[in-house]
Amino acid sequence: QPEHSPEPAFPIPAGVFAETVTKVTHYTDSLFAFRITRPQSFRFRSGEFVMIGLPNAAKPVYRAYSIASPAWDEELEFFSIKVANGPLTEHLQKIQVGDTVLMRKKPTGTLVHDALKPGKRLFLFSTGTGIAPFASVIRDPETYEKFDQVILTQTCRGNAELAYGRELVETSKADELMSEFIGDKLIFHASATRDGETRGHRITTLIENGKLFEDLAIAPLNPETDRAMICGSMAMLKDTEALLEARGFEEGANNKPGTFVVERAFVD
Ligand code: A2P
Repeated sequence: QPEHSPEPAFPIPAGVFAETVTKVTHYTDSLFAFRITRPQSFRFRSGEFVMIGLPNAAKPVYRAYSIASPAWDEELEFFSIKVANGPLTEHLQKIQVGDTVLMRKKPTGTLVHDALKPGKRLFLFSTGTGIAPFASVIRDPETYEKFDQVILTQTCRGNAELAYGRELVETSKADELMSEFIGDKLIFHASATRDGETRGHRITTLIENGKLFEDLAIAPLNPETDRAMICGSMAMLKDTEALLEARGFEEGANNKPGTFVVERAFVD
């Protein structure tokens, strides 16, 4: 019996997809990304999330995971934290190529184009693994059909945690097919709030003092032309939301498009 058996120890529950891990990349002690096969029938909109679990119990634990890959990708990608005693991530962080991952069948979420009114610039504000849904959005051609400029921001505590985002933006811009629709429309702003030169640079601070717009040489937030999506910790969602609302932005939903949207599914 091999120590690491790819065979699920428990039967696959009815009504869920059982997919195979194709790639695992560890970024730091607390962050990793993985890719799984994509069921042929599975459709989703960029920015949506699904419930992910492992076949390691009779009643598997599921957690909401944003799909980080674009809709045209043959596989599905996810970006995850590792929690030492997290009911799912303590096991998920150990997955290897060939292992089985469970996925519920219905994707959902609010970080989608359908929930935003048309606009000129799209701001994607994230902290930590909150960048995951935007990894999908920035690789979706529709994003560049709908917007003239896309500004992705990620804030993490340390510099090393920004590696996934940096690599994502670099490879997307360098990709022959993606670069055609991305052109020079995509701007990435990364800051580490407890590390190096960007110490203290929370996105909320940079919006308030205007440094974000100065550094990127772009106009300040304007609800007439700008749309925004926010994904991060509960505290970050609240504070960023308040800043946007103070500037005249209104929250949207799938059935009522607005000028900004927030994903609250990951808050535990
Ligand atoms: P900071 O280092 O100043 O707390 P966390 O790991 O706590 O979720 O934090 C991830 C990133 O989000 C950190 O860079 C953190 O900055 C930042 N952050 C935490 N709370 C807020 C908030 N209320 N508004 C903006 N950024 C925040």
